[in-house]
Amino acid sequence: MHLHGTQKINEHGRLEIGGVDTNVLTEAYGTPLFVYDLADIRSRAEQFHEAFQSNHVTYQIAYASKAFSCIAMMELADRLGLSLDVCSDGELFTAMQAGFPVERIHFHGNNKTPAELEMAVDAGIGCIVVDNFTELSWLMAMTEANAKPMEVLIRITPGVEAHTHEYISTGQEDSKFGFDLNSGQAGRAIEMIQAHEYLHLLGVHSHIGSQIFRAEGFEEAVKEIYQSIRVWIDRYDFYPEVLNVGGGFGIRYAEGDKPLPLHVYIDRMVEAAKKEAALLDRPVPEFWIEPGRALVGEAGTTLYTTGSRKDIPNVRSYVSVDGGMTDNIRPALYQAEYAAVLANRAGERAEELVSVAGKCCESGDMLIWDLELPAVEKGDTLAVFSTGAYGYSMANNYNRILRPAVVFVEDGLHECVIEREQLADLTRRERSYTAAKAVDTAK
Ligand code: LLP
Repeated sequence: MHLHGTQKINEHGRLEIGGVDTNVLTEAYGTPLFVYDLADIRSRAEQFHEAFQSNHVTYQIAYASKAFSCIAMMELADRLGLSLDVCSDGELFTAMQAGFPVERIHFHGNNKTPAELEMAVDAGIGCIVVDNFTELSWLMAMTEANAKPMEVLIRITPGVEAHTHEYISTGQEDSKFGFDLNSGQAGRAIEMIQAHEYLHLLGVHSHIGSQIFRAEGFEEAVKEIYQSIRVWIDRYDFYPEVLNVGGGFGIRYAEGDKPLPLHVYIDRMVEAAKKEAALLDRPVPEFWIEPGRALVGEAGTTLYTTGSRKDIPNVRSYVSVDGGMTDNIRPALYQAEYAAVLANRAGERAEELVSVAGKCCESGDMLIWDLELPAVEKGDTLAVFSTGAYGYSMANNYNRILRPAVVFVEDGLHECVIEREQLADLTRRERSYTAAKAVDTAK
């Protein structure tokens, strides 16, 4: 069994997180329940800070809030000295509700609407990562009309695609994100921004993928970007003040996942940039990264209560829990694998092989195939590890199942930061179709 962060098995043989017995949590808040181990998030933020500081470069660590966004998380990100990557009006709104310093907010997205851009410009956020010409023209008009300046990065596709265990260099880019390099789109965008009165081109952004276990992809991306920078210096006299290499740092979900220590990614990408900058006799740009999963993924654990089981002799035993693809769609969507234990009997030896099913009316709603557990009884607490990123943030109401509650734990304290959804929430924004009465009467 591999435990994460502050998790341990206590003297009662139960899983404890942040010094809090999971039994206390299920009794206080019910299940399914997302539990975040704040010490783990703090430690990861600290590791990123230290990695940059020991490399003596200026930097920003922008938490990719798509991984998990709520007011308390935004407040924590601020306290941890993080910047913020938002990619919708909803994420921006949440950050602003939390009082997150707007100058450290960066706005992403391949289809930011005029209303979203307006919101960002009005709020005076730190930077917009410009993705395409449509957005650029809106942004130009908007900043001009309001006489409001805006810092921008341009997002480019560096021709490097990183998968979990390897990376590939792709010659021709085929992506919905960013400006293409080969066809000269990036260059054209640079010229347009440079010529604009209210936009200031801070630098370049690239994001090469997610759940990456090797540093080579980032190194390669830095090198590829510098190939372009050489051209941009000659053509546009443009050398970036900021180099943003995105997120994607891998975490441990299950057996076989072997993430690198966080500083290794940073050491390698900074080293690559230092080398390239020295060749051009230019300063190393300020480094920005955008980790989501690496900050909150392993810090999150989902607690479920086991219910029905179905034993098919010589085939399989299904154990169902009170959640599923509504709170964790990743297994169904990406065949993502997770590890889990019985939190209330974490000290007991595994005795059987079961598959954990969600409660949705869908055969694909399986959380874990072939999991070794003590003989499972109804009413046990199943703790699924590493659900902190893209779990709650991708939660949905399929089958009109309610979204779970979220609790933060630290130093023996626990506090609910998102309440469990209630049945009444489901119909709160709904209305009868009154026109039907008129139509039916007329018939
Ligand atoms: N920056 C940009 C521009 C991104 O698009 C993303 C993620 C990140 C940063 C953060 O990536 P991270 O460090 O969290 O890997 N729903 C999928 C993940 C989608 C990621 C999309 N972009 C999942 O559950 O695996």
